[in-house]
Amino acid sequence: MHTKIKELLQFGTVGAQVEAKGWIRTKRINKQVMFLTLNDGSCQQSLQIVMSPSELPKELLSQLVTGASVTVSGRLVASQGANQSVELDGHHLTLLGNALDYPLQPKAHSLEFLRTWAHLRFRTNTFGAVFRIRHAISYAIHHFFHERGFFYLHTPIITAADAEGAGELFRVTTLDTPPKHPDGSMDYSADFFHTATNLTVSGQLAAEAAAMGLGAVYTFGPTFRAENSNTTRHLAEFWMVEPEVAFNTLDDTIVLAEALLKFLLDYVLKQCPDELDFLNQRLLSHSHAEEATMTLLERLQFVLEQPFARITYTEAIAILAASNKHGQFVYPITGWGMDLQSEHERYLVEHHFKRPVVVTDYPKAIKAFYMRQNDDGKTVAAMDILFPGVGEIIGGSQREERMDYLTAVMQHIGIQNLNWYLDTRRFGTIPHSGFGLGLDRFVLFVTGMENIRDVIPFPRTPGHVPC
Ligand code: 4AD
Ligand code: MG
Repeated sequence: MHTKIKELLQFGTVGAQVEAKGWIRTKRINKQVMFLTLNDGSCQQSLQIVMSPSELPKELLSQLVTGASVTVSGRLVASQGANQSVELDGHHLTLLGNALDYPLQPKAHSLEFLRTWAHLRFRTNTFGAVFRIRHAISYAIHHFFHERGFFYLHTPIITAADAEGAGELFRVTTLDTPPKHPDGSMDYSADFFHTATNLTVSGQLAAEAAAMGLGAVYTFGPTFRAENSNTTRHLAEFWMVEPEVAFNTLDDTIVLAEALLKFLLDYVLKQCPDELDFLNQRLLSHSHAEEATMTLLERLQFVLEQPFARITYTEAIAILAASNKHGQFVYPITGWGMDLQSEHERYLVEHHFKRPVVVTDYPKAIKAFYMRQNDDGKTVAAMDILFPGVGEIIGGSQREERMDYLTAVMQHIGIQNLNWYLDTRRFGTIPHSGFGLGLDRFVLFVTGMENIRDVIPFPRTPGHVPC
């Protein structure tokens, strides 16, 4: 049985006879000695292997290249290198798979280049760090909610609902060409579900129904949006965490969201120090590093320690309008009622407050139909949490629990087929609230990567599906 490299480096005792398996990262060789670095993905570090090349057939030696997979057995010895405690004095080496013409070389490739090799980039230091951190965050999300008595709910992936009412739907059909109604619209009655269905844009509506029986639930799954946004923060398939809590007000849900974000940051800082150190160094070595006022590690620590700023949408518009950047935004500040663009969100966070900002009480016209109308008749009990470098990371609200208000909005926008949802208001309606955290955007923030395509396996974006 082989031992994971992580365990060998952490617990391996000098003198122990062990077997390691992995992929060669680098090879240095002269007449007397050959050094291989072997990585198996279990941790950031690679295991150094020292062997005498004279013991190996020439043909095998030439096949020990970056990307090739091997099994090596030998004895752990104290390492001369500063970065690791032990290395492997190899006695026996078997080639498992050669890697002739392997496209990734032991040098820094650009992230754009690596995106074209999305299936191989898991084998690089940068993506190893990103995906181990993504795992740690996902695990910690379950931990956070489980400890607080929430129940994990698997909401439908295929659904007939458009939870956000934005119409950015991926249609699900088994028909090559659905027949048409006389008015020209598609007739899905002959389709698999006898109605039009799509991939979910959010599990919220189902989570609301569940919260009204289970009290506190969360969904955590893939979410799909056919919005044609070719930006560094949008994916067509992304992962969202959506807690929904009976009897919670908007304030309660803001407190819950801030607690979740800080719990996750604290968890990653404690559990992934090697990955964060590596990403921190990576950013420091970038040419524009001197422009940054904080290192990645300092930024994570800072966000963990600072209370988030809190303002209303109306205050946000006033700050933006008065800012000296007025006139320099690509999307000018046209006044109350406009939607905030990412550049505006980032101005508030990075220049004005210099910490995460919670913006509440948006105009009802720019928010989803299910949000609770405030007494002013113009705004809704919504909240967005804005993060440095990312902009909106969380969107949430108190839900409209009053039947007459909800049906009036739905009628106004023309939302049909949600009778089951209205039953939650018909029978024992209650105040309740929830939010959605974009997992990928949070991983983007934690890792300091700049493009959301670099924090999800096989990123799917408009015009692009890598596998
Ligand atoms: O603000 P959104 O659209 O909110 C909802 O979907 C609500 N149903 C959530 C709720 O109250 N239960 O999306 C929530 C978050 C955003 O703040 C953002 O972080 C992320 O999901 N998000 C995306 N991430 C990547 N790519 C996209 N195309 C995204 N769209 C939203
Ligand atoms: Mg939103």
